[in-house]
Amino acid sequence: MTLPLAILASGGGSNLQAIIDRIEEGKIAARITAVVSNKPQARALSRARAHGIPAIALPQDDYPDRAAYDAALLAAVQDSGAQAVVLAGYLRLLAPPFIAAFKNRILNIHPALLPSFPGLRVQAAAAAYGVTIAGATVHFVDEEMDNGPIVIQAAVPAGPDDDGESLAARILTLEHRIYPQAVAWLAAGRLAIAGRKTRLAPSSLPPADLALVSPCLVNPMLEEGF
Ligand code: GAR
Repeated sequence: MTLPLAILASGGGSNLQAIIDRIEEGKIAARITAVVSNKPQARALSRARAHGIPAIALPQDDYPDRAAYDAALLAAVQDSGAQAVVLAGYLRLLAPPFIAAFKNRILNIHPALLPSFPGLRVQAAAAAYGVTIAGATVHFVDEEMDNGPIVIQAAVPAGPDDDGESLAARILTLEHRIYPQAVAWLAAGRLAIAGRKTRLAPSSLPPADLALVSPCLVNPMLEEGF
């Protein structure tokens, strides 16, 4: 079984690229039916074209109001044949009818450890706040912003010399690992939502290197005796 999915992106599309690469390697049982962007110049669209994936630009200025835009977006995604939707740096809120049409079938990645730092420009906010652990969250999308059940989170250290840019780069590297993983779980039908929680059906696959996260769970490192 191959899950047909649409990807919505507003920017560079590096998460899109990470997902395309894992699909092409056969690690995700999915097929991208369309990449849709509200920004016609988004690099995400040229990345899609380079891989033979239909790329659809839907600039909001082409539509008289929000409702018309939202209807066009839903139609484009449904017409592509998608059965699930992946938001990869899509910087617009989805309308309730869209979310209802793909209930429990939409994933988003957010560059912070939710529920801390919802919203936009959150890496800069986390750096300015002085957090010592930052990270990323993949979650299902519901009607509230950055709110749905969490699928996976990954943590990175942050320090007093970090700014939004340095923190964003460190987080993005981990995004490229956890997002394709979450999409693979979705495509394999291994994710089940129970209230606020997501349950992952077990598999026989061995875990990847634990060193990816374990040294980062406490930062700065504890000293001897603690
Ligand atoms: C990523 O850091 C993603 O987490 C973030 O936008 C960036 C997109 O990068 N998404 C949000 O802030 C959603 N609120 P990309 O276009 O290179 O994948």
